[in-house]
Amino acid sequence: NTSSTIAQSSGFKSVGTVAALDKDGQILNKKSPVGPVLVIRNPNDSNSLIAVNPTCTHDGCTVKWKKSEKMFDCPCHDAEYSADGKVLQGPAKKPLATYQAKIDGSSVVVKA
Ligand code: FES
Repeated sequence: NTSSTIAQSSGFKSVGTVAALDKDGQILNKKSPVGPVLVIRNPNDSNSLIAVNPTCTHDGCTVKWKKSEKMFDCPCHDAEYSADGKVLQGPAKKPLATYQAKIDGSSVVVKA
């Protein structure tokens, strides 16, 4: 369809469906076309999406989104990141990589 053709040509790639995002509260796709990606609805603006590379910058574990606390939490050594990927608590020192993300029809699309 036309809208996804435009999305593809502008560099956005589908990483999952809106149905899955709303069912699970997130999309975690470790093998998406842009690499590992975790997509959530922006807790401060449900019309926009947030996408990060969920690979912890400390030692490579996969972070989890904690919706009630509006932050990403690493299960390995308790690093914490804000919704925009900034480090809130070590031992991680570098922020999570972030991507542009949006809804395109029934798909969630991300641009690396
Ligand atoms: Fe995430 Fe160590 S790997 S805190």
